[in-house]
Amino acid sequence: MQAETVKIDGNSSFDFDRVENLLQEFLGKKGMIVPILQKIQEEFGYLPRPALEYTAKMLRIPASKIYGVATFYAQFHLQPRGKNIIRVCRGTACHVRGVSKVAEKAQEILKVGVGETTEDLKFTYEEVACIGACGLAPVMMINDQTFGKLAPDKVKTILEKF
Ligand code: FES
Repeated sequence: MQAETVKIDGNSSFDFDRVENLLQEFLGKKGMIVPILQKIQEEFGYLPRPALEYTAKMLRIPASKIYGVATFYAQFHLQPRGKNIIRVCRGTACHVRGVSKVAEKAQEILKVGVGETTEDLKFTYEEVACIGACGLAPVMMINDQTFGKLAPDKVKTILEKF
């Protein structure tokens, strides 16, 4: 199939070549939706809608089937993700030690809510259950780094490191 670049939503373009290339190894094989979606997410950082629709076309299956798989698994993201993923712990120990104020501060600085990504795509802000570092409560992780014994006034300095 000829790859093409088309206008999406009238103001941005999507390069289908990138999807075309990564689909090559899967064409003609069955049961490949999950590995294909993993590849697309690896390539784009999330699952862009045009990429999913193009994939459905290439695999000759309904787009709804692709969306069904994409929304079933927590590992897949349909919205752009930030370069850095923040996970603030909302477990009991962190709660008792005042993580709410830390969470509020981080959201205020980043101007995002839970599950949202900053406009510059630098951070995605998430809240999670106990991350197993209760001795350091209140805790947050940024990517694979853990920051413990947090206080609201430490948040800005930490974010500035990224
Ligand atoms: S409750 Fe936050 S690390 Fe365990």
